[in-house]
Amino acid sequence: MRWTPNSWRDFPIKQQPTYEDKKALNDVEAELSSYPPLIFAGEARTLKEQLASVGRGEAFLLQGGDCAESFTNFNTPNIKNFFKLILQMNMVMMYSTGKPVVKVGRIAGQFAKPRSSDFEEIDGVKLPSYRGDIINGVAFTPEARIPNPHNMIRAYNQASATQNLLRAFSRGGFADLNKVHKWNLNFIKDNTLGKRYEELSEKIDRAVKFISACGLSSEQVPQLHQTTIFTSHEALLLNYEESLTKIDSEGDGKYYDCSAHMLWIGDRTRDLTDAHIEFFRGIANPIGCKVGSTMGEDELIELIDVLNPENEEGRLNLIVRMGASKIQEFFPTLLRRVRDEGRNVVWSCDPMHGNVEKSPTGYKTRDFENILSEVEQFFAIHKEMGTVAGGIHLEMTGNDVTECTGSTSCSITAEDLSSRYHTQCDPRLNASQALELSFMIGDIINN
Ligand code: PEP
Ligand code: CO
Repeated sequence: MRWTPNSWRDFPIKQQPTYEDKKALNDVEAELSSYPPLIFAGEARTLKEQLASVGRGEAFLLQGGDCAESFTNFNTPNIKNFFKLILQMNMVMMYSTGKPVVKVGRIAGQFAKPRSSDFEEIDGVKLPSYRGDIINGVAFTPEARIPNPHNMIRAYNQASATQNLLRAFSRGGFADLNKVHKWNLNFIKDNTLGKRYEELSEKIDRAVKFISACGLSSEQVPQLHQTTIFTSHEALLLNYEESLTKIDSEGDGKYYDCSAHMLWIGDRTRDLTDAHIEFFRGIANPIGCKVGSTMGEDELIELIDVLNPENEEGRLNLIVRMGASKIQEFFPTLLRRVRDEGRNVVWSCDPMHGNVEKSPTGYKTRDFENILSEVEQFFAIHKEMGTVAGGIHLEMTGNDVTECTGSTSCSITAEDLSSRYHTQCDPRLNASQALELSFMIGDIINN
């Protein structure tokens, strides 16, 4: 079947807004299509190569960021704190595993959200659900909830500026290994975890000084002076994705979705006969697909057939999100089948989306114990099966929020949640919880 960037329009599609003003929508799509790509196809190919090494067990994938980026929380401190956190986690994991860490942010485009219900009801008032800032507004008013196509332009501009700052931080000297102490975030500096990170920084410092005494300074060695953070998001709103999909005319002549380096398909939109699968099969980026507990064995093999027909390494990341209480029951069968059929995939663990609960105080939350438990089980199952546990996929922020309960370093209780519950969608690990989890993952890998 012939594929074009708009062939998805002939298929059934879930989780989409209905835009009332079709002309405005068409105008926005035309305008977006004329804008420059946010990434270069060559970068997406580099990420694919790096993911291939993750699939072989030679590197580790760290993917994380907001559940949903928002227009209101768009500012330098948020991006900088995220950048510092991901560098810290990178150091912790690299130091403990001795392997490179492939860093992929849920950032610079992570705006559109699938929802469990089309409507939200508060005190008898029923309005369309919030679907992410790229679609409508979070405020509980009829006006805010109307899908506005112009939000796509604003999302593009925000993604572009975010990407620009990430590139500047990555290349401009901020990521220099001599600055490893400076990445420690103020609010965790003094807790046990901050101290543990400081100890690690000391060791890295000594190693860097040693290397420099050998005659290799960070100015001469780009690997010591720079880093790369790739961008990714759930490609849910296909009007936006199609508009940014371009042929790499000076490269391999294939289509790339240039809204991010990597895109993934959500658990709710991965039906084989639906539009998202159609769109994804034609783009040459590295792609991901969420795998929840309802995924069937044959269904998964068919999905792999469609999304990675050449069995290319690094092309397809299967992101397992079953929940701490379900992963042991549902994951091993899928893993065994994929292993036995010799399919090249990168397996990663999203311990967030299967572990959502409502706190007694009324907040949507996740408990650190469950998150850690799903990660531990994910690694144990791979060990048992002789397969590669490639990486981790987290919802996290570099800020000091109170959205997930638990952890040793900050022990947030249900009562604490109201204090700094800032997410526009799902609860994120705060920097302290995310760093603690990184140390624990390092320990799991080493054992
Ligand atoms: C997400 O990653 O924010 C998400 C909605 O995940 P899932 O599709 O796995 O529910
Ligand atoms: Co989420």
